[in-house]
This record gives sequence, C-alpha cells and structure tokens, in this order.
Amino acid sequence: MIEFQNVSFQYNDLDILKNFHITFRRNQISCLMGPSGVGKTTIANMMAKLIFPQKGQVTGIENAVYSYVFQEPRLLPWYSVYESIDFVLKDVYPIQERKKVVLKYLEMVGLESFRDYEPEQLSGGMAQRVSLARAFAYPSNVLIMDEPFKGLDMKLKQEMLSSFQRLWTESKRTVLFITHDIEEAISLSHEIYVLKNSPVEILENIVGVQGKDNHLIRNKLQNIHLL
Ligand SMILES: Nc1ncnc2c1ncn2[C@@H]1O[C@H](COP(=O)(O)OP(=O)(O)OP(=O)(O)O)[C@@H](O)[C@H]1O
Ligand SMILES: [Mg+2]
Repeated sequence: MIEFQNVSFQYNDLDILKNFHITFRRNQISCLMGPSGVGKTTIANMMAKLIFPQKGQVTGIENAVYSYVFQEPRLLPWYSVYESIDFVLKDVYPIQERKKVVLKYLEMVGLESFRDYEPEQLSGGMAQRVSLARAFAYPSNVLIMDEPFKGLDMKLKQEMLSSFQRLWTESKRTVLFITHDIEEAISLSHEIYVLKNSPVEILENIVGVQGKDNHLIRNKLQNIHLL
C-alpha cells in the first residue's frame, strides 16, 4: 500500500495539503477526481517523488519504479515518435528486443505510420498518445496518469481505454489515474477518491468500482459533481 501520512504541503504559503491522509492499494487502479486546482497533480507529483512533503511522509514508494503520463505531454523536441519511446527503453532491453517493444506500443496507440514524425508535427492527441505509449512501454511498477485521455476523440479514447485495460491485466501495476470524466473513472478504476478544496480533503471514497453494475456509482458521482 502507498500511504500519505499526515502530509502537509504549501505553495507560497498556501496550504495545498494539510495533515492529509490517503492510501492507494498496490496493483490496483486508483482514481482521483475533483475540481480544478484542488491538488490532484500535486498528490501525483508527490507520489512520483518530484516534490516532497514539508511535514508527514509518504510510505510504500521505497522501491517504486515510475512511469508518468504528465498532464501536458512532455516530449523532447529533437526525438521522433519512435525515438521518444526507444530512448526510455535503452537501459532496459537489448536493441533487437527493444525494436519489437517500441513497435508493439506504437501500434497500440495507432501511430506506426507516424514513427518518424517530430513532436512539432504532431497534434495534441497524437502527442498524448506518444506519452501513453512511452509510459506503458516502460516496465514500471507504479504508473501515474494525469488526465491521460484528454484531447482524444471518442473512438480513440475507447480504443485507448481497452488497450489500457488489456495492458493492466498483463502486468498489474499500481496505477494512479486522474480524470474529470466520470465514464473513464468508472470503466478503469477499482477505487475512486473525490477530492474537495482547500486544503484538499477526501469528500468521497468509492471502492469496488470495476466490474460492478455501476448505475449507482454513476449517479453518485454525477450528484457530487453538481455540488
Ligand atoms: N509550481 C507551483 N507553484 C505555485 N503554485 C502551484 C504550483 N503548482 C500548483 N500550484 C497550486 O497548487 C494548487 C493545486 O494545483 P494542482 O496542479 O495540484 O491542481 P489539480 O487538482 O491538478 O488541478 P487541474 O484539475 O486543473 O489539473 C493550485 O492552487 C495551484 O495554483
Ligand atoms: Mg492537474
């Protein structure tokens, strides 16, 4: 289990987290929802050790190996689509195997024929898919995805959701998934936390989401969203 224990964190004297407590189960998909600016990305960055608690601690991440789909796709401008994925696998696989892995994930996100494109030639949704392929391809044990399916049309989003489900079943990583989309949350997550301002608090914790009749959960989330 990954556990935030009494965590406090400020940006410019503004309390984002104050004595905050939350747990994420290992090898499960946990989802954070909640209003813009509430602190979802801050929590994700802390799980990824990009920022650190000013008080309290985060346990369970001592042996974490991360991949992170950032809220804004971060692609290196001098790498092609193929190289963006190949680059992170350099120390992981020998060259022959690496090629197979890169092609597998490029195909998964439907970008095989764009392998030589540079980042500036990509649309937002294409860049997003390169980020997804790169994060999936890297054999992490903690996968963080901050609004990973934004900018995708309905068909692509459905395809990405099913690819993700397939991948997660192949290797059950611990996933932290952030979204504003109730349907995405319901279809992917085992557990959903709805957060509210400020400093951040857990308004609702919904467990046992995936694979159930989700009518009630959908209603509940819709009602919370109206608040
Ligand atoms: N680098 C930073 N410097 C100063 N303040 C920041 C910084 N990053 C985030 N904040 C502030 O922290 C708060 C939480 O931001 P965060 O990015 O975690 O929100 P979020 O829940 O991810 O929102 P969104 O849904 O819009 O992505 C906001 O008030 C934001 O202004
Ligand atoms: Mg955010």
